[in-house]
Amino acid sequence: MKELFLNKLSIVNYRNLTGTDFDLNNNINCFVGNNGVGKTNALDAIHFLAMGKSYTNSISSQNINHEASFSMIEGIFDKDGKSLQIQCHLERDGKKTIKRNRKAYKKIADHVGLIPVVVISPTDIDLISEGSIVRRKFLDRTISQSDKKYLNNLVTYHRILQQRNALLKHFSSTNSFDKDTLSTYDEKLVQFGNPIHEARKKFIKTFHPLFHNRYQFISGNHEPVTVSYESKLDEHSFKTLLEESLQKDRMLQYTSVGPHKDDLRFRINDFPIKKFGSQGQQKTFLIALKLAQFDIIRNQMNVLPILLLDDIFDKLDDSRVMQIINLVNDDSFGQLFVTDTNKERTENMIKETAQSYSIFNL
Ligand SMILES: Nc1ncnc2c1ncn2[C@@H]1O[C@H](COP(=O)(O)OP(=O)(O)OP(=O)(O)O)[C@@H](O)[C@H]1O
Ligand SMILES: [Mg+2]
Repeated sequence: MKELFLNKLSIVNYRNLTGTDFDLNNNINCFVGNNGVGKTNALDAIHFLAMGKSYTNSISSQNINHEASFSMIEGIFDKDGKSLQIQCHLERDGKKTIKRNRKAYKKIADHVGLIPVVVISPTDIDLISEGSIVRRKFLDRTISQSDKKYLNNLVTYHRILQQRNALLKHFSSTNSFDKDTLSTYDEKLVQFGNPIHEARKKFIKTFHPLFHNRYQFISGNHEPVTVSYESKLDEHSFKTLLEESLQKDRMLQYTSVGPHKDDLRFRINDFPIKKFGSQGQQKTFLIALKLAQFDIIRNQMNVLPILLLDDIFDKLDDSRVMQIINLVNDDSFGQLFVTDTNKERTENMIKETAQSYSIFNL
């Protein structure tokens, strides 16, 4: 297993953090302080270094401090004994530069995968409460981290989809129809859509047992939970679905079937967790999803991702918190970042782990 640590972090003008330096611990790091001091922002800065973007705000210029014209985040990582210096530079006009050992990337996508991270954050609740797009994003991100071919298929598929939708609009506005032109798009959609469906089916087979183990471990009991992948392509060929929905698509002026409509279904006791899960059960569910994502990345990339835990202890009962602490003790985790408003609570819990730690007051 490759080792991965962030040793030094320096943040300038990233949101409310105008100038902050951290000398970090290889095991556990805690950011503590009152509401609004910048704990989440510090974790997000680490996410930026690793993934080339914010976890919560994809408009990069909005992450620059209101009073400043630019923002700079720098991290010195240690990956498998080699030092890696990563710098992210953001400007008001939206320009973003990422440098690895002082050399700027031409494409930021090339940086993705070098420093795997997994985030567990209060915003994860969107996975349960929001529409299918959030769950597809989770699915796509997790598969893409270790499968570049999947990512390429996905990008091409969405390009063709946009073109097909534009054509449907054109038909409607000009009161015309050309079956042959539409068929060429249908063929391409099928060509790129089918492998996406196959990859997702294969993924969920590996993912589900990992997720299930994580949930049962944290909850300490046998609340039956499931994550299932739902796609109309499970029952009918994509080609047939497109043919059958032709009239509907022409009326709607967009493509109403395909992998871009797939969803993940989250259930507890065979009922949707969104309606029938308690807050603590939902939180446990989300943590288990993310820890399974951690397991997938670790297994496929042979490296322990950096784990960012934002407000994770909130809402969980003591026994579930203790189980998470126990997880930390078993050495299947690498470097860990934790935030909390309560310094004493955090310190008391971390002491239970017998791991080295550093606490930073923000
Ligand atoms: N672009 C920005 N420029 C300046 N300040 C910003 C910017 N974006 C966010 N902030 C400020 O950052 C602060 C929030 O920081 P953050 O979310 O990291 O707090 P926190 O310590 O995680 O708090 P909590 O305990 O409530 O989760 C807010 O005061 C917010 O106004
Ligand atoms: Mg926060």
